[in-house]
Amino acid sequence: MSSDPHSPEAMSPQHMSLQQRLDKTLEIAAAAGRMILEAREADNLEHHYKDGQELVTTTDVAVDTLIREYLEQHFPGEERLSEELAPDRDAVEQDGALWVVDPIDGTVNFAHGLRHVAVSIAYVKDGVTQLGVVHAPFLNETFTALRGAGAWRNGNPIKASAGKPLEHSLVATGFPYRRDSRPPLMRRLQAVLTHCRDVRRNGSAALDLCDVACGRLDAYYETVSPWDFAAGLLIAREAGASTGHLYPCPEGLPKDLYGENLLVSHADIFDELGDLLRDADAGKLDNQ
Ligand code: IPD
Ligand code: CA
Ligand code: CA
Repeated sequence: MSSDPHSPEAMSPQHMSLQQRLDKTLEIAAAAGRMILEAREADNLEHHYKDGQELVTTTDVAVDTLIREYLEQHFPGEERLSEELAPDRDAVEQDGALWVVDPIDGTVNFAHGLRHVAVSIAYVKDGVTQLGVVHAPFLNETFTALRGAGAWRNGNPIKASAGKPLEHSLVATGFPYRRDSRPPLMRRLQAVLTHCRDVRRNGSAALDLCDVACGRLDAYYETVSPWDFAAGLLIAREAGASTGHLYPCPEGLPKDLYGENLLVSHADIFDELGDLLRDADAGKLDNQ
């Protein structure tokens, strides 16, 4: 790690601006990205399974550990919610500072030698996401957003697509690891394949959201965990995409960290695509 938190030049987190926090988060994501690149180079991944079906590698845990150490160094005492080391979801309900971390989003891609892999880090205050960084080391792409200030890809401003009708829209989604949870999602898939240009399943929710943010994809829907989407959702919203849920968020939970039935798209198709997916859920399209 680069600096000593007790050194005179180390700034206390209470006095840091959001931009300064973003700069530190970028450094942390870059270090995590280097560790991911080196791990692929070394080619000695050990695979394990969480809950019988969900793949996790030794690198997922090592990267989460690295990020935890950096966060503790630069933001001592601030709470963390991270997929491998601190996955207690009750953390989303607390006030104050919260770091939401996915050390590797796209673990299956990573384990298979694919390139669609990202580090995702969000800083949330009182349930509202303030900044997001999604860094894709194999793609040389880093997406960032600051609440109310915009979204960027490798430092250049990005914008979601606009004006494209649903039938020309490219829609991304994903599927849960549990295979018995997949069949109910087939109705949605059929509806989208019937009414939109096509579907993509790229294997990283964080990057799906960033691809909506820069107009490569027109929409994304899925149910995911807070670490999968917290940073990407802010990036998509700050790039002008509409963000929300197919069904209401329960009272008292922060919308920015509620991952059930997320829908994110360019503004012109948000309502229409939402209706299509809800109709599919209700079986209204079954005979079409
Ligand atoms: C997964 C990816 C994937 C999504 C899964 C997530 P992981 O995260 O974001 O695209 O469909 O629901 O669990 O396990 O690679 O960190
Ligand atoms: Ca993930
Ligand atoms: Ca992960």
